[in-house]
Formats: sequence, C-alpha cells, structure tokens
Amino acid sequence: MTAITNSATYRLGDRCVKRMGYGAMQLAGPGVFGPPKDRPEAIAVLRTAIESGVDHIDTSDFYGPHITNQLIREALAPYPRDLTIVTKIGAVRDEKGGWIPAFAPAQLTDAVHDNLRNLDLDVIDVVNLRIMIDPHHPAEGSIEAELTAVADLQRQGLIRHIGLSHATPTQIAQGRAICDIVCVQNQYNLAHRGDDALIDDLARAGTAYVPYFPLGGFNPLQSAILSAVAAELGATPMQVALAWLLRRSPNILLIPGTSSVAHLRENLAAASMTLSDDVVARLNAIGGEHT
Ligand SMILES: NC(=O)c1ccc[n+]([C@@H]2O[C@H](COP(=O)([O-])OP(=O)(O)OC[C@H]3O[C@@H](n4cnc5c(N)ncnc54)[C@H](OP(=O)(O)O)[C@@H]3O)[C@@H](O)[C@H]2O)c1
Repeated sequence: MTAITNSATYRLGDRCVKRMGYGAMQLAGPGVFGPPKDRPEAIAVLRTAIESGVDHIDTSDFYGPHITNQLIREALAPYPRDLTIVTKIGAVRDEKGGWIPAFAPAQLTDAVHDNLRNLDLDVIDVVNLRIMIDPHHPAEGSIEAELTAVADLQRQGLIRHIGLSHATPTQIAQGRAICDIVCVQNQYNLAHRGDDALIDDLARAGTAYVPYFPLGGFNPLQSAILSAVAAELGATPMQVALAWLLRRSPNILLIPGTSSVAHLRENLAAASMTLSDDVVARLNAIGGEHT
C-alpha cells in the first residue's frame, strides 16, 4: 500500500485537503467517452486512492458522460467523511463523444442536478464553473449570468463551494464580486506555465490553484531534462513533474489522472519527494524563462 506520507494540506473552502489528490477523468472509456476498458481496474483505482489517504477527487458528470460519477458512487459510497468531491459543469457530450458547451444558466442547473443524482449526494462539496466562452483557450468575456445562476444553487444548499475553471484573472475578479471563489482549475504543468503570475496572486489571497493536465494530459510531458533528472533521482519523469508542482507553490493541489492502480501508486509516492534548489532550477528551464 502506498500511503500518502506527506501531510501537507491546503484550504479548499471549509475543508483542508491533502495536496496530493486524484483526477477521475481517465476512468471513462477512450476519449473520456463510454465505459472503461477495464471496469474492475477503474473501481480498484478509486478504492486504492481512498485507502492510500486521498481525500480530494476531481470529476465531472460529462466524463463518460455520467459513467465516471457512477463509478465513483459504486466504488466509494457511502463516502468517507473527510472526502472532498469536486465536480465541474459547463459542457455536455454528443452521441459521438464530442464536447458541447452547455453554459446557459438552465443547462448549468441541470448539470448540478445530474452530478447530485449520479454521485448520490444531497450537496456537492465544490462545483467548478468551467468557462466555455472559447472551449479550447481561456477567453475574456463576462461570466456574470452563468456564475449568478451557480451562486443561486449554492444559496439553495445544493453546492457548498464554488470554483472557476479555464478562467482569466479578469473573470476571477468578476467572479469574486458575485460569490466566494475557493479554487481555480486551469491548465498548468512544467512545460505550460502561462499561469505563473496568477498562481502567485491566488497564493497571496489564500485561494487554491488546481492544475489540470499536470502530467501533460493527452500529450504526456516529454523532456530530456525531465528524464535526466528523474534518472538521477531514481524516480520516474511523471513523479518529478508532480514533485515540481508541489514545490512550485503551497496553494497548488494536485489531481493527476490515471486509469491504472500502478500509475496511481507511482503518482501518490511523488508527494514525499523533495527536490533540491539545483534540480528545481534545471526543471524551470523546461518552461522557459520562469523562475
Ligand atoms: N477543468 C478542465 O477543463 C479539465 C480538463 C482536463 C482535465 N481536468 C481534470 O484534471 C485531471 C488531470 O488531468 P488529466 O487526467 O487529463 O491529465 P494528466 O493527469 O496530466 O495525465 C493523465 C495521463 O497521464 C497518464 N499517466 C498518469 N500517471 C502516469 C504515470 N505514473 N506514468 C505514466 N503515465 C501516467 C494517464 O494514463 P493512464 O491512465 O494509463 O495512467 C493519462 O494518459 C483530470 O482527471 C480531470 O479531473 C480538468
């Protein structure tokens, strides 16, 4: 058993969660669509995560669709009291697995009810509004109507906390005028560092930053520097990439995704790695000029 030995936590709403969590997107079938190739393994990944001390799982009802949430319910309900489940809303899937924006207030309301039903919850710990003004790149534009609808659902008691995903600093500021924003979930990793300044701003505000694609997502991180450092440390490149994120800022919460128990164990073990300043400087070169 690979227990998370690093006890570092960070605030996520009214909870403190371990900085090493788990992202459930990889549990659905290929292309995040349909049933998993290996259903018992998917269930085992979820149970192993909890047995190992994971207390933060990221999901969405549009993974599958519905299937990932149903797997979480089957594997883990009744849920441990200290488990924080974070979902996201803003899209649906078409019959071929395409990702379709579903960003109108009525669609967002439907999505919250879909998550509640498929996870078998009365209230969702955290709902991230996945901004879909441009589905592929964070794009400026008002989110007032959409976030107000989500805040209404929070007032009704269906949502405990609200976060934003795929958000620009301007949208985060706009969002904070509407409701408390407990986390921001944007793309960020060793090689994709567009949010460096934002991460530092959020750290000063005490807001969690949850990078998606921490391992590169559909294009896994590949770098000669990363491979060389990993070999020197007797670790895998993916472990080094996660350890670098943990080192990058204390407000970063990790949700690496995997469909494999072996990869899950490998990823969780990265929580106890310590990187020297020299190693961090070399890894920083992967992302360009950042320090
Ligand atoms: N807000 C958003 O718009 C958004 C978008 C994308 C994702 N997310 C969230 O972010 C989470 C993480 O993102 P992600 O899962 O897409 O990408 P990721 O964590 O960067 O990478 C997942 C990929 O890496 C592989 N992998 C995982 N651990 C590995 C290991 N130790 N060695 C080798 N390969 C490994 C996985 O394959 P195996 O299954 O074979 O391990 C999978 O192909 C998701 O689960 C989801 O919850 C949010």
